[in-house]
Amino acid sequence: MPTTTDLDGLGLDTGGHLLVGHALEQLSPGDQLTVTGRHPALAVHLAAWCRDQGHRFDGGDQLVITKGAAGQQRWHGAVRAGDPAGPPDQAADQRWGLAARGALVETGGPPIGAEWADRDHVWADIAPRLYAAAAAAQWDPATAVDWSAQVHLPEAAEHAVVQIMTYLVENEQAALIIPARLLSKIHPHFREVMQLLATQAADEARHVEIFSRRAMLGGGPLGTSSAGGRASLQTLLTEPDFTTASFLLSVLGEGTFVDLLRFVHRHAPDPVTADVTRLALRDEARHVAFGVAHTAHAARADPGYLGLLRQAVERRHAALLDTAGLNNVVFDALVLLAAGSWEPEAISRGFAAVQQLQQAMDQGRRRRLAFIGFPPGEAAELSALHTRNFM
Ligand SMILES: [Fe+2]
Ligand SMILES: [Fe+2]
Repeated sequence: MPTTTDLDGLGLDTGGHLLVGHALEQLSPGDQLTVTGRHPALAVHLAAWCRDQGHRFDGGDQLVITKGAAGQQRWHGAVRAGDPAGPPDQAADQRWGLAARGALVETGGPPIGAEWADRDHVWADIAPRLYAAAAAAQWDPATAVDWSAQVHLPEAAEHAVVQIMTYLVENEQAALIIPARLLSKIHPHFREVMQLLATQAADEARHVEIFSRRAMLGGGPLGTSSAGGRASLQTLLTEPDFTTASFLLSVLGEGTFVDLLRFVHRHAPDPVTADVTRLALRDEARHVAFGVAHTAHAARADPGYLGLLRQAVERRHAALLDTAGLNNVVFDALVLLAAGSWEPEAISRGFAAVQQLQQAMDQGRRRRLAFIGFPPGEAAELSALHTRNFM
């Protein structure tokens, strides 16, 4: 049965191709479609369009298109890139490339070449919820901190705060680079992890800003950066495996940092120091939550992973054996911060508080290591091997 579509005055160059294409969609290869219309260049345009689309065209008294098979062949072998709502597939196909999860993917595009295309290498079931929480919890450094608050500390206290802030900034810079590097190598099929790491990098960018700003608030120079501290962070930057990097940075490093930030917040001598540590603390809790959940996921999927994680801790410990670990002026600044004055009794209290902090850090690491699947004895051993630089 002959089929006709009427374009009226519509030209093929101003949308008429949609009507012709829509009419052809209903037909099978070899079927004919007659096109009518008043546009003066209709026959010329149809001839060119049909050539391009792989249809035969006869432009006699009537304009007749015979449908070609090219359109169907083009989508032959096309596959769905998983389910858009998730959960993501176990193995993401490199040939899906940048296609949206759930899209019908035409064959022949460039493969993405993602380093991690296996779900267990990057995933945690909590990732979509953590991403939603992170997106909802973004704050503005300009207004979330009352920068106009009075900060007139005695010189020694200001000096201690500035030293701690200087140290925090260098740690935050490592914490910014690592998720940015990891997310660039994940298959985009695991988009919630990619999105979560993007918010994590944005969080760290803000932490760099607020700690730098607090350090500069008093108008004095910044504190010192030790070679040992930087060496410790540098080992994190080069960790090639996603799970191991996430484990070392988020489970052990940021996990330890949560206790540190809580400590500085509790002993903050001014409202700005209290604000900046409170804001960072809130974000860090999410970073730790993902690291722990993902590492536990990877260890459940492959119990052999615990051995690899253990080796990573031992390797890092060996690499840092000759370094001093924590900048001693940072340690002293923490003591002074908790002491609040130069009185011997206060310093003694401050010293005890920093020792308690280190115990709390150790307990926190052991708890997280046990959650991931390490037996308690091994968790204690690994916690003890963690860098003295905290991160
Ligand atoms: Fe941070
Ligand atoms: Fe973080």
